[in-house]
Parts: sequence; structure tokens; C-alpha cells
Amino acid sequence: MLAGIRDILIIGTSRDINHYELMFDNGSRLGLRLSYAVQDHPRGISDAFLIGQEFISDRPICLALGDNMFYGAGFGDLVRKIGNSHDGASIFAVKVGDPSRFGVLNVSDEGYVVSVDEKPTSPQSDLAIPGFYFFDRKVSYLAKQLTPSRRGELEVTDLLNAYCAVNELSYQVLPRGISWFDMGTPDSLLEASNFVYSLEKRHNIVISCLEELAFRNGWIGETELYDFISGSPTSSYTNYIRSLLSNG
Ligand code: G1P
Repeated sequence: MLAGIRDILIIGTSRDINHYELMFDNGSRLGLRLSYAVQDHPRGISDAFLIGQEFISDRPICLALGDNMFYGAGFGDLVRKIGNSHDGASIFAVKVGDPSRFGVLNVSDEGYVVSVDEKPTSPQSDLAIPGFYFFDRKVSYLAKQLTPSRRGELEVTDLLNAYCAVNELSYQVLPRGISWFDMGTPDSLLEASNFVYSLEKRHNIVISCLEELAFRNGWIGETELYDFISGSPTSSYTNYIRSLLSNG
């Protein structure tokens, strides 16, 4: 939503997808157009482009993994800028202490990407690749050429390497004012929760309030916010939205 994207396909297991659909329906109350698709076996991240082929049709696309979180000033501007450049693939890179847990960038001394390695035992750099990728319209075609890795998955890093092979992979190191969390383990989920909790409490804000984002983007108006408040049980969340209506 920060990147100005309104057509969104949510992919999940058949067990989980209904919860998202129950919560968001077709997305119209947030000014979005949502669709849903099922991935029942862990066939890999790049499988999303085969599942979503019809949805993507011939458009550039952004892929966001559900267990990744970003927070920081200027993140919206950054993703908007990348989202508007439609050539090749664009990714972020973040310096981390434990690169072996992630996709890792292998860069030349001049800073060009040489390759991208999935969870390497001997990482070539400390630059991890977060789960947030922008691809041009070639993506479905390139995803179809991939073969499963040793762990039986269509790896996103193989897709990135396909772009790298034709010099069409660009990256940007996230500035240190922007925090990135991979919440794929119970520990890291708690870490991210504590981070959000501390900021929300200290500054009396709600982080990632989708209704606020839609309102500030001009995708919904005050009527939709009132409808949401009156259709929901009173909570600190609805009180926050009410405060937007009185304070702007
Ligand atoms: C996935 C990707 C990896 C990326 C990571 C970011 O790994 O395969 O390249 O760095 O997401 O969160 P996973 O966390 O699914 O093991």
C-alpha cells in the first residue's frame, strides 16, 4: 500500500487463506482489489509466480513475504521509487550478523552483483536479502524455466540469479534508519512484536494501520472509516482510527 499498489494476490495454505479472506474480503473497504490463491505444498517462493500467473498477466510485480516486516522513516518513498522503475529485478540488502540464515548477495569489489546464494554455509558477504522483491514483466516466463533445488523448492534466489545473468538485478542497501525483521521463528516474531509494542506505546501511534494508510492515500474517505468503527467492537484500534477523524 505504501508503494501505491492496490491489486494484491494473497497466497497461503488452504488452512490459512480463509482467515485472510474473512478478515479482508475483496479489500474494497481498504480501497484495494484483493484476490486469494492456495499453495498447498512448500514448492518454494518462486512458485508464487506460477500460481499467480493469471493474476500477474503481463505486469511488473512486487512480491512480499508474509513473515517479513520493515519499519522506518522514508521506507514509503523508497518502495514507491523502486515500484515505478519497471526494468529488471530490484531487491534490498541488509547487513546482518548471521547471513547464513538468508539469501546472501555476492558482490564484486566495484559493488556489482556477481550472484545470489541461498543460505550459504560460507557467505561471500554480510548482505542478506529481505523477502521483498520487485520484478518486471519477464518474471512469469523466467519462473517457468526454474528447476527445483536440492531441497525440492523453486528458489527465489535462482530467479534472482536469472536476472543477474543478464545484468538486470539491482540492489539497494537499506539505510540504517530502516529496520528489517524476518519473523520466521518464534523468537524473531517475539522480537518484532516487542519492537512494535515499544514504539506504539512510546509515541501513541499504531504501526501499519491499514485503514489509516488507505485514508492517507486517498483510497477511502471518512465515511468508510466511520463504517469500519461502527461495525467493529470498541478497542484501542478503533479509538486510534476515531482520533484520525478528529485530528486528521
Ligand atoms: C526466504 C528466502 C531468503 C530470504 C528470506 C528473507 O527464506 O528464501 O532468500 O533472505 O526469505 O526473509 P526463508 O525465511 O523462507 O527461509
